[in-house]
Amino acid sequence: MRILGIESSCDETGVAIYDEKEGLIAHSLHTQIAMHAEYGGVVPELASRDHIKRVIPLIEDVLKKANMVKEDLDGIAYTAGPGLIGALLVGAMEARSLAYALNIPAIAVHHMEGHLLAPMLEDNPPKFPFVALLISGGHTMLIEVSKPGKYKILGQSLDDALGEAFDKSAKLLGLNYPGGPLLEKLAKDGDENAYKFPRPMTDRDNCDFSFAGLKTAVLNVVHQSTDLEKDKANIAKCFTKAVADTLVNKCTRALNKSNLNTLVVAGGVSANTDIRSALTSLMQKRGGEIFFARREFCTDNGAMIAKAGMMRFLANEIAPLDVVVHPRWSLTDL
Ligand code: KG4
Ligand code: ZN
Repeated sequence: MRILGIESSCDETGVAIYDEKEGLIAHSLHTQIAMHAEYGGVVPELASRDHIKRVIPLIEDVLKKANMVKEDLDGIAYTAGPGLIGALLVGAMEARSLAYALNIPAIAVHHMEGHLLAPMLEDNPPKFPFVALLISGGHTMLIEVSKPGKYKILGQSLDDALGEAFDKSAKLLGLNYPGGPLLEKLAKDGDENAYKFPRPMTDRDNCDFSFAGLKTAVLNVVHQSTDLEKDKANIAKCFTKAVADTLVNKCTRALNKSNLNTLVVAGGVSANTDIRSALTSLMQKRGGEIFFARREFCTDNGAMIAKAGMMRFLANEIAPLDVVVHPRWSLTDL
């Protein structure tokens, strides 16, 4: 069985082919980062128009890489939400039409389920049950995953998503969009003890997050700085350290509450080296296991959608003929 996956929920068009036995056999991505950078963030209408231009050439590209023709496909998976409605509709229309023309099923995939399953694309995949930490540009969540498709949300951000906090803090430091990866580079030469930033909500016995205050703390330090050029590496490092400590605290609570010792970390922010090493050392201390996706599959991609699509396809969850997307969609509604 071979599933084509199409991701188009935000500013990346990703396409991939996943084989039931061989795993991932081809993937391609076009990122719109350069196009949106000039505006300091994603412009939804430009995103939709660009997805329209990219999606068919990317499908042709993965078919060529996999040495296949479209008639070899058994199903077409697409991101049905959450995300930008226009962007989602491009992938959904393309997938639904192609599936109809080929007389094969279309499969609607939840974007966050895609992120959550991305570590399963690696050679040593995590085994269920586990706790998942999802940290992306739109979501920050701790989830107890007892089996595929069974999600219990243990906690989430009450305000900004972590990726958003990275992007806004990066902007305060004069970095371009998306700031997360640039802030990581800047933090490399920083001193983690230069500033004392808050570890938000770590004194509360729950698995919820709040990052708005941390971003304000960065704003205050930026305003007080008399030489931002000199201070910004330290600010970036201390911000990242505060985030990493907060995640360690909340993951510990989530693992203890659910009585589990396996942590899966996914979403764009999980590409961050300092965050990966803080969580890895937590799990080493606990004698537990930790799993990440390779860095290129932490951010949006087609491979995770093809993988999640295969799982849903094997469970016989086929999308109806009408094209429905969900700009807002809870994982618990799956
Ligand atoms: O998962 P993702 O690609 O898209 C959403 O589903 O939201 O996540 C994008 C977010 C952006 O906020 C970006 O700045 C952040 O992930 N990000 C990072 C890093 N790479 C991407 N944040 C911190 N460090 C990174 N290396
Ligand atoms: Zn994403």
